[in-house]
Amino acid sequence: MDLSRKTVFITGIGSGIGAATARVFAGYGANVTGFDLNGDAADQIEKDLTAEGRSVACTQGDVRDEKSVSQAFDDAVGRFGSVDFAINNAGIEGALCSFSETKTEDFDEVISVNLRGVFLCMKHQLAHMESSGSGVIINIASIMGLIGGAQIVQYAAAKHGVVGMTKSAAAEYAAQGIRINAVCPGAVKTQLVQNVLDTTPEVLAPLIDNIPAKRMAEPSEVGELCAWLCSDKAAYVNGAALPLDGAYVAV
Ligand SMILES: NC(=O)c1ccc[n+]([C@@H]2O[C@H](COP(=O)([O-])OP(=O)(O)OC[C@H]3O[C@@H](n4cnc5c(N)ncnc54)[C@H](O)[C@@H]3O)[C@@H](O)[C@H]2O)c1
Repeated sequence: MDLSRKTVFITGIGSGIGAATARVFAGYGANVTGFDLNGDAADQIEKDLTAEGRSVACTQGDVRDEKSVSQAFDDAVGRFGSVDFAINNAGIEGALCSFSETKTEDFDEVISVNLRGVFLCMKHQLAHMESSGSGVIINIASIMGLIGGAQIVQYAAAKHGVVGMTKSAAAEYAAQGIRINAVCPGAVKTQLVQNVLDTTPEVLAPLIDNIPAKRMAEPSEVGELCAWLCSDKAAYVNGAALPLDGAYVAV
C-alpha cells in the first residue's frame, strides 16, 4: 500500500492503538500528525518517527475541549496543507462497576471523552474534508459498540453512540466523496486493558477463553485495518462498523 503524499491525523496518538497506527501509516509513507492528552507521550512518538526519517508533528491536546481540537486540527492542516485521513482514537476505559453503583461523574467523563470527543473531532474534520472534496474518517469504537456487556454501561453507551454517529455521517457525506467507518476492536494488548487487569486480574483467563481466536489483538493489527480502510482499495466501504475481534461477536 502506498499512502505517500497523504496525511493522517490521529487522536490519542501517544500510546497503544494510536501510537501503533501512527507507525503503520508512517510505514506506508504517510505524513503523521495528531495529539494526545499526555504531551510527553505525543512528543515521544514524534521523536521516534522523526528519527526514522518520517514526516511527523504531534502535540498535546484534549478531545474534551473544542478549542483544543480545532487548534490541533488547524495546525495540522497548516503544517501539511491538508488532512486526508482522520482517526478518532482517544478514549478511556472508565471503571468496571454495576449499573446501579456507577457514579454519575464517571458516566459523564466517559461520555465526554469517548463520545462527545469524537463528535467534536468529526465536526472539524468534516468541515475541512467538505471543502477539499474528499477524505476518510475512522472512529475507533469497540465490540462494546455492537453488543452490550455487564458492568460497563458508560463505555458501551459511548461506543454505541460512536457507531451511530459514524453511520449518520456516512449517509450524509457519501455523495461528497467522504467515507466514514468505525473499527470495533475486541481486546487489544494496550495500557487501557492493562488498567482493567491491574484492578481485576481475575478477568484475564475468562477474557482470553471467551475469544474464539484465544488471544488479544496486537495494536498494529488495528492500524493495518485502518490503513486499508483509508486506501482506495476500500473505496466502497462506507458507514460500516467492522469488528476486529478474533470472532468474539460472531458466536
Ligand atoms: N485496548 C482495547 O482492548 C480496546 C478495545 C476496543 C476499543 N479500544 C479503543 O481504542 C482506543 C485507544 O485505546 P488504547 O487501548 O490504545 O488505550 P491507551 O490508553 O493505550 O491509549 C489511549 C490514548 O488516548 C489518550 N487520551 C485519553 N484521554 C484523552 C483526551 N481527553 N484527549 C486526548 N487524548 C486522550 C491517552 O493519553 C492515551 O495516550 C480507545 O478509544 C478505546 O476505547 C481499545
